[in-house]
Amino acid sequence: MSQVIELKSHPLVSHNLAILRSKDTDSQRFREAAQRLSSIVLMAATESLNTVEQHVETPMKKTSEMVFADDIWFVPVLRAGLAMVDVGLGLLPEAHVGFVGLYRDDETLEPQHYYKNLPDFSKSAQSCFLMDPMLATGGSACAAIDLLKMRGASDIRLLTLICAPEGLKEVFTKHPDISIFTASIDERLNEVGYIVPGLGDAGDRYFGT
Ligand code: PRP
Ligand code: URA
Repeated sequence: MSQVIELKSHPLVSHNLAILRSKDTDSQRFREAAQRLSSIVLMAATESLNTVEQHVETPMKKTSEMVFADDIWFVPVLRAGLAMVDVGLGLLPEAHVGFVGLYRDDETLEPQHYYKNLPDFSKSAQSCFLMDPMLATGGSACAAIDLLKMRGASDIRLLTLICAPEGLKEVFTKHPDISIFTASIDERLNEVGYIVPGLGDAGDRYFGT
């Protein structure tokens, strides 16, 4: 069932969004703020993961804790999704990583697919975290979700930092089964497909291009 969780009301989120958005933030500070925000979005997105009980013995007594039941896959959309995957592996070192390479054509805004490295997700129970900091028209996210579903993924969460309402609508129309976790739902897209107020080009700012 489609849902979007927006985390902007938390002061840690809005504080880091302010750093990301500012045109005066250099690449180093941009990367650090993007990583902090990614870890917060990841915490929210992992809350609903399936768990099983595991018995553990402390030095004091036998007890149990709930641990992940399914394999977890992070799938960053190249390039900007790389901003989120290292943070994910820091929090969940057991996760596997697949890749989707897409860039948006400057003129048509259509996603251009240039790379993928994805497993056959249907072989065992999997939870997939698709990572891309920006959801603008939604074209790239929909193309990436199509690829994941073609490889058998069914439990897919999309993790972003900033979304445009237009992109949310596009994803929910084409993929009503996806949950989206984001730091902010912004106002709108401008006439050249950039999110307003947004932060500019996420990949360029993160990588200092
Ligand atoms: C950005 C962003 C998304 C896409 C969003 O990537 O990381 O993948 O744009 O736009 P959309 O929702 O309109 O498809 P970009 O195309 O700039 O590629 P890059 O990460 O290689 O810079
Ligand atoms: N991609 C970006 O990096 N920023 C936008 O505002 C839209 C697409």
